[in-house]
Amino acid sequence: MQIKTTQRLELPPSADMHVHLRQGDMMKVVAPTVTQGGVDTAFVMPNLVPPITTVERVLEYQTQLRDLAPDVNFLMSLFLHPSVTPEVIAQASAAGVAGVKMYPQGVTTNSESGVSDLEAFYDTFSAMEKHDLVLNLHGEVLESLAPEGTTLEEAFLPTLKKLHDRFPKLRIVLEHCTTAAAVEAVRACGPTVGATITAHHLYLTSTEACCDPFAFCKPIPKKPTDRHALLKTVVSGDPKFFFGSDSAPHLKQSKTSAEKGKAPAGVFTQPVATQLVLLALEEGIERGDIAEADVTQEKLEGFLSRNGRRFYKLPEESKTKLVLERKGEKISDSVRNESGDVEVGISRAGSEVFSLRFEKV
Ligand code: NCD
Ligand code: ZN
Repeated sequence: MQIKTTQRLELPPSADMHVHLRQGDMMKVVAPTVTQGGVDTAFVMPNLVPPITTVERVLEYQTQLRDLAPDVNFLMSLFLHPSVTPEVIAQASAAGVAGVKMYPQGVTTNSESGVSDLEAFYDTFSAMEKHDLVLNLHGEVLESLAPEGTTLEEAFLPTLKKLHDRFPKLRIVLEHCTTAAAVEAVRACGPTVGATITAHHLYLTSTEACCDPFAFCKPIPKKPTDRHALLKTVVSGDPKFFFGSDSAPHLKQSKTSAEKGKAPAGVFTQPVATQLVLLALEEGIERGDIAEADVTQEKLEGFLSRNGRRFYKLPEESKTKLVLERKGEKISDSVRNESGDVEVGISRAGSEVFSLRFEKV
């Protein structure tokens, strides 16, 4: 396949293994955009206000999302918190909850009730290992804990290794990895450890993220060499790595009115999630980071769809497929509700992308 000159592509529906769909009016705007981005399976993050820490609440949330987007398979997660005990893990497993997300306290949006002492959760991790729930890690340390010259993500990597050594059968996902070092650390672990890679970390670097509020997110995009490593990983075919957009909507107003450097963290990509991965790969080819021949049908299917499904033990066959065609479509500025009180700016507004539709197979 010559992705840069290809006019038409067919792919299996994407599995987006890291999404933020929020609650209330924001959820009503964002949940329907999941299918627009070519996604039929989405792993939903629990960092709502208050965070989702009970099975009852997570099932209620799943029902709300299904009502808004009936064609999407929503995989649900709990927020790791002292109330998520081994008993709650057993209940969660029986209810079909897929994972538990660990946010170090204070590192990102809505993480105030996150974790400060991981060892306090070892019984919970044992129960997760037993019930085969996935542990999803926001792999960053607080700024005050990172040694000089190390990124917040690199400073977290010893913790990944420690958890994997202690709980080798526990499936762990290092979410949104952003550095060459993180990719290496995930590779060095056994097959129970995987990682998500977003679309935006395949096109952004610190240069944009520092100064454009719509490019600011956690983990912060890093150096061009890190982006290069991520692009190479996406086309490596390594099944440990799969798509998780970390699409994180915030009100446009909160982004534009923030003081410099104070915008809420999160890049919104959901309505064009699949399309943006393809765009980033094309730009990677243009820069010479990857070769045209690296982007094959098999690699695209693996990264965008199959690897994630396999890691989460989901069926891979689908009754639908994506048809992507170049029709000169440009990414719109934002999504909004009718009243206009919820408006979210989309990353890369104005860029030309494939037009996408679902078709029956
Ligand atoms: C996410 C959000 O806004 O919920 N923000 C982000 O920058 N990625 C939280 C997160 O995943 O860190
Ligand atoms: Zn996230």
